[in-house]
Amino acid sequence: MDDAIIRVDGLRHRYGDFAAVDGISFTIGRGEIFSFLGPNGAGKSTAINVLTTLLRIQEGTVKIAGHDLASDPQAVREDIGIVFQEDTLDRDLTVAETLEFHGRLYGLPRAERAARIAELLELVELTGWAKVRTKRLSGGMKRRLEIARGLMTRPVVLFLDEPTIGLDPQTRLRMWDYLQAVNREGTTIFLTTHYMDEADRLSDRVAIIDHGKIIAEGTPLSLKNALGEDIIMLCTGDDRAAEAVIRGMEGITGVKKDPAGLTLLVAGDGTHVLPVVMHRLEEEGITVISVNLKKPSMDDVFVHFTGRKLRDNSAGEGH
Ligand SMILES: Nc1ncnc2c1ncn2[C@@H]1O[C@H](COP(=O)(O)OP(=O)(O)OP(=O)(O)O)[C@@H](O)[C@H]1O
Ligand SMILES: [Mg+2]
Repeated sequence: MDDAIIRVDGLRHRYGDFAAVDGISFTIGRGEIFSFLGPNGAGKSTAINVLTTLLRIQEGTVKIAGHDLASDPQAVREDIGIVFQEDTLDRDLTVAETLEFHGRLYGLPRAERAARIAELLELVELTGWAKVRTKRLSGGMKRRLEIARGLMTRPVVLFLDEPTIGLDPQTRLRMWDYLQAVNREGTTIFLTTHYMDEADRLSDRVAIIDHGKIIAEGTPLSLKNALGEDIIMLCTGDDRAAEAVIRGMEGITGVKKDPAGLTLLVAGDGTHVLPVVMHRLEEEGITVISVNLKKPSMDDVFVHFTGRKLRDNSAGEGH
């Protein structure tokens, strides 16, 4: 990609012997919204912390906005903005002061500062809380203020680590809209998320990351299309027998069995394939308990590439 704003090649990051980021390469085009989608412990924060210079780069090369991360971290810092995953607010500053100081730090002119603070407080619904110290805010309010702070400036690249974690659905939609507006003004956005819908709805391109490796990458649409046109979810009296019958049937490009039932990937129009499948099962004397025909979702993409489901509250950490 010639107009790449971020170029990562062979990035690896170890904590002791453990490679939390295990040799990833990718490029992000200028003006893109790019997501890392992955479960807890996948290595998302480690990767973003290296890219934003918070962790020293150990192995691989990274170029951001033309600057080499290893040799010129300061130049990288000047071109980026960051919204961290964890709470990094100064407890004793008020909401407005938090934004004001950040704007001053980045040399935003006074008038612009004031206008942006007003606009952002409105966006994150903290206008009435402007004079309150951050230690008095709830978790969700702190999260919203962190995002607002990250949006005070218009960096070349904005990094957001799980930006909408813990926010209610309505607020998340507002954040997505706003991030898209910021993006349209020219800021490239790199975010990490474990929300399927966030990756799907917000991103131009998604990389699925698991155990420190990128296992799939593409536009949300291309990732979903890789699974076929339609998906049939099937629950039968004997899934093992049903799997044997269905595997190899015309129009079926894949069959997966898990405790919840069978997932069939369909190459063509599912409405044509489904009756044929039902008929075959009937012939074999296999009862069908439930059936569901749908278009592949980001969840299906994730299950397909990782072999497991991603649950929001999954305890799937560990090495
Ligand atoms: N400072 C550290 N020392 C040792 N191991 C670490 C450290 N930080 C992270 N890890 C481990 O590295 C792996 C990746 O962690 P990381 O925080 O990058 O994942 P993540 O994808 O951001 O997860 P989450 O969705 O929970 O934020 C995990 O197994 C984690 O336990
Ligand atoms: Mg993280």
